[in-house]
Amino acid sequence: MGDGVRVVEPAEGAFRAAANVPGDKSLSHRALILAALATGESRIEGLGPGADVSSTAAAIEALGVRRTGNRYLSPGPDSWHAPDYPIDCGNSGTTMRLLTGALASARFRVTLTGDGSLRRRPMRRLLPTLTALGATVDMTAEGTAPIRTGGSELSGTSVTTDLASAQVRSAFELAAIRARGASEIDGPPGFRDHTERWLATLGLGNRMTPTRFRIDPGPVPAARYDIPGDPSSAAFLWASAAIMTGAIVATPGVSLNPGRIGFLTILEALGATISAEVTGAIHGDPIGTVVVEGNELGSTEVLGEIVAPTIDELPLVAVVAAYGTGITVVRDAGELRAKESDRIAATVDMIRALGGGAEATTDGFEILGTGRLDAGTVEAGGDHRIAMAAAVAATRATGPVTVLGSSAAAVSWPSFYDDLEALWSSR
Ligand code: S3P
Repeated sequence: MGDGVRVVEPAEGAFRAAANVPGDKSLSHRALILAALATGESRIEGLGPGADVSSTAAAIEALGVRRTGNRYLSPGPDSWHAPDYPIDCGNSGTTMRLLTGALASARFRVTLTGDGSLRRRPMRRLLPTLTALGATVDMTAEGTAPIRTGGSELSGTSVTTDLASAQVRSAFELAAIRARGASEIDGPPGFRDHTERWLATLGLGNRMTPTRFRIDPGPVPAARYDIPGDPSSAAFLWASAAIMTGAIVATPGVSLNPGRIGFLTILEALGATISAEVTGAIHGDPIGTVVVEGNELGSTEVLGEIVAPTIDELPLVAVVAAYGTGITVVRDAGELRAKESDRIAATVDMIRALGGGAEATTDGFEILGTGRLDAGTVEAGGDHRIAMAAAVAATRATGPVTVLGSSAAAVSWPSFYDDLEALWSSR
């Protein structure tokens, strides 16, 4: 499944490097959607280069937003054009879920669809909160895309979600800013609260408690967004350094949103040396420099509240743990089965394909750290994070790792393999 074959040879020794990573995917989607919700010209610097972000950019252009370089001129939501074809969200769950909310109050109905993987992913989770606002959202009987949204007058409401999902919360919030009356949302902790921090600095809401956010509707101002580096991309470089004693990588200018950096806590528990220094903030959302240094590694347990802020990095936890000693257990992560692939199965298959010990459980996996992985062939299954984690596993493998379906990386980081290999040759 998926195109491309990449043979990744192991690194030749400990590397020392500083690396810039692509613009954050989560924040790129949000900047584009907020630019479309504004009337006038917004500016976005450092937009993520991946295909997922391009799906959101194409979607807002279909609504009538005109792009010139880094500038996005929106006619405003009351003057959006009704697209006369379904909006294609590609492989991007964030595009589909956030737009379902942002378009709920459009003057027209619009269809959102996507590739085979996206059309299998669960969308029913959007319904309780959006219908409470008065949105009319249709989907298949299985709770999957195509989704139809739009055409509803929304009224402020107070909801609680039982998922620590930034996408569910953001869909609600991007709808609620166009409702009549204020809204509130509460739910379990650990989600990335980018949307909430940005809405608060744009004057459209306030945090009431660590998990409760109030939305005050109003026009979205046209704004400038500087997108920081993506910590979920930097995580591949951090992991590569962590598994090689004496290797060091520094990644400046990455998002340090607390909902994004659980992986750093886990790397430290496994034995890597970590520093994360906040150097600034963008619309109230912290950014900074992370330095990771590799050491001898042990094992750890990953469960409870650390799972949500590490959700996209759990395949990497498996790779790093395989190079440690002892059994690493990941629990409370059943959500991994609803990602771009069944990431529990895909992660276990990846580790086994490289001669490591891994077992799937209902809500996670167990990795037997033996301190080594071997040469082997990993099928990415159309999942960018599996393709890229397999390449990271090559860092210290006993021979080359062949990634089948390697071009899946283009979803978030098109030049990933070249950038990883360049890192390894820095001294
Ligand atoms: C994202 C939220 C997370 C994450 C995804 C991006 C976002 O999903 O896994 O890659 O940008 O809001 P959930 O909201 O489903 O946890």
